[in-house]
Amino acid sequence: MDIRLLRSSDIPNVQLANLTNLPENYFLKYYLYHALSWPQLSYVAVDVSSLEYNASSNPYTSKPPKIVGYVLAKIDEDNNQTGHITSLSVMRTHRRLGLAEKLMRQSTRAMREYYNARDVSLHVRCSNQAAIGLYTERLGFAREKVESKYYADGEDAFSMKLDLVSAFKDEEKAAEGEGEKTDGVDEGGEVGEAGKKEEKKTVKVGRQLGVQSLVENVVQKPSQQVAGA
Ligand SMILES: CC(C)(COP(=O)(O)OP(=O)(O)OC[C@H]1O[C@@H](n2cnc3c(N)ncnc32)[C@H](O)[C@@H]1OP(=O)(O)O)[C@@H](O)C(=O)NCCC(=O)NCCS
Repeated sequence: MDIRLLRSSDIPNVQLANLTNLPENYFLKYYLYHALSWPQLSYVAVDVSSLEYNASSNPYTSKPPKIVGYVLAKIDEDNNQTGHITSLSVMRTHRRLGLAEKLMRQSTRAMREYYNARDVSLHVRCSNQAAIGLYTERLGFAREKVESKYYADGEDAFSMKLDLVSAFKDEEKAAEGEGEKTDGVDEGGEVGEAGKKEEKKTVKVGRQLGVQSLVENVVQKPSQQVAGA
């Protein structure tokens, strides 16, 4: 199973998953609006076992990916410090595997990392025990209020919020600590023949708060660098 960012080409499959799993449906252009306006926030779960392995050509054929879950998310148009989960669903065949939780964590982390969002909101049907369990028990959302007759069929919604600053505090602190420990430190390398291998150095990248700010980057020795490159 692969969790990756939503691409425009996924949208028909995401719309199909939405139509299959939820009564709240949207026009294609609404998905596109999310994908183009906040390209870092919406994710899909892809069943990669549905791709055909083909050893003779470049390794997977172009059979369409099987989208088995998605989260569609945005930043509130009126408050750019608040994220919003527009829609989330996982196909019945792939439930209770932790996919919804992973999709939600990826999206909320990206809200924090790319938009410095302070909280994230959502609505859920008061009868939707599965989603309420996921949001409150697993992810730490708090019920804010009941919105009467929020849905077209007259059902009430819980409006929920998660404080992203608290939710990612430990992760962000750890990332900052790691950055301080390794900033500018030469981790050294082997000498002689072994030293000719690519040397890896930890560098700090990303935006303000640096969640996931440490990546391994290949650094060439001065003697290996090509002039003008
Ligand atoms: C709600 C939904 C997205 C959960 O997807 P999922 O991938 O099965 O959820 P996860 O496997 O990540 O579950 C994480 C946790 O959420 C809670 N949970 C999920 N499904 C549950 C269920 N049917 N009953 C009770 N708790 C449930 C559990 O705490 C679960 O952890 P556990 O499996 O270790 O007990 C999925 O059931 C779904 O698509 N439902 C239809 C669409 C929908 O309701 N979307 C939400 C609209 S607001």
